[in-house]
Parts: sequence; C-alpha cells; structure tokens
Amino acid sequence: MSNTKPENTRKTDYKINSIFVNRWSPRSMTGEEISDDDLMSLFEAARWSPSSFNNQPWRFIYSKRTGSEWSKFLDLLNEGNRIWAKEAGVLVVIISRKNFEYNEKPSITHQFDAGAAWKNLALEASIRGIVAHGMQ
Ligand SMILES: Cc1cc2nc3c(=O)[nH]c(=O)nc-3n(C[C@H](O)[C@H](O)[C@H](O)COP(=O)(O)O)c2cc1C
Repeated sequence: MSNTKPENTRKTDYKINSIFVNRWSPRSMTGEEISDDDLMSLFEAARWSPSSFNNQPWRFIYSKRTGSEWSKFLDLLNEGNRIWAKEAGVLVVIISRKNFEYNEKPSITHQFDAGAAWKNLALEASIRGIVAHGMQ
C-alpha cells in the first residue's frame, strides 16, 4: 500500500530526495533469508563511501540466519534487541580499523568513516526494500 511509505507521514521542513525520508528502522522482520546478491550489493554500496585518505577502515562481519555462527551473533545483542532482531535475515557487526593501512599511524576519523559506510549500506537496503536497522 502506497500510504505505508514513510514519505506519506514524515514531513520534512525543506525539500529533500525521498530516499532519505523513506529510510527508516522497522523492528518488524519477516525472517526471510537474504540472497548473496542482495547482501553483497549492500556491502558494495558501503564500499563506495568516502573516507579520510581513502583508507576505508570499515569491516563487516556477518552471519546469515542459516549460518553456523548465527546463535553467537544473537548472543551479542541485549534482550530488548534480540526480541526482534532474531527474525532478521542477517546480522552484521561493523568494526573499524584504528590505524591507517598505509603507515599504521592512528586515524582520528575511523569511526566517522565507518558510520558513513553504514549509511550507504542502509540507504542501498532501503532503496531495495530491505530493512536495515542499526543497533548499538
Ligand atoms: C548507531 C545506531 C545505534 C542504534 N541502536 C539501536 C538499538 O540498540 N535498538 C534499536 O531498536 N534501535 C537502534 N537504532 C535505531 C534508532 O533508534 C533509529 O535510527 C532512530 O530512532 C531514528 O529512526 P529511523 O531510523 O526510523 O529514522 C540505532 C541506530 C543507530 C544509527
């Protein structure tokens, strides 16, 4: 139904592209598997994110719900998140490398860069009709 789209209920102060308004964080998951093609496209979108010195410090560690490590990933979550996240198709842990790869000196932007990459991933997911819900 078209009126379930966030853009029909979210009112922006200024005109922006609907991709930003339509990205949101539902907790209702279908429990469907995610295909490798879809998942790799999400990581590919993240890959094209800008980063300091083009260092690309983000790293994604994942388990699909059918994977052998699934219960380990679920155990990382607090109870409040586990309740709904157990129905996700994939759980992804995002970490970032603290030092630049080219000289091993500390990067002060590694977390910022990883956050930008997550946003690319989340937007690509939303555009594909896939729920991406961030969790601390
Ligand atoms: C880094 C980060 C951590 C978050 N942690 C949680 C969380 O632990 N549990 C949860 O239900 N939502 C979490 N969220 C989702 C936010 O609550 C949500 O993005 C925010 O309320 C705005 O809503 P929207 O994404 O639907 O626009 C997190 C989002 C981000 C970006």
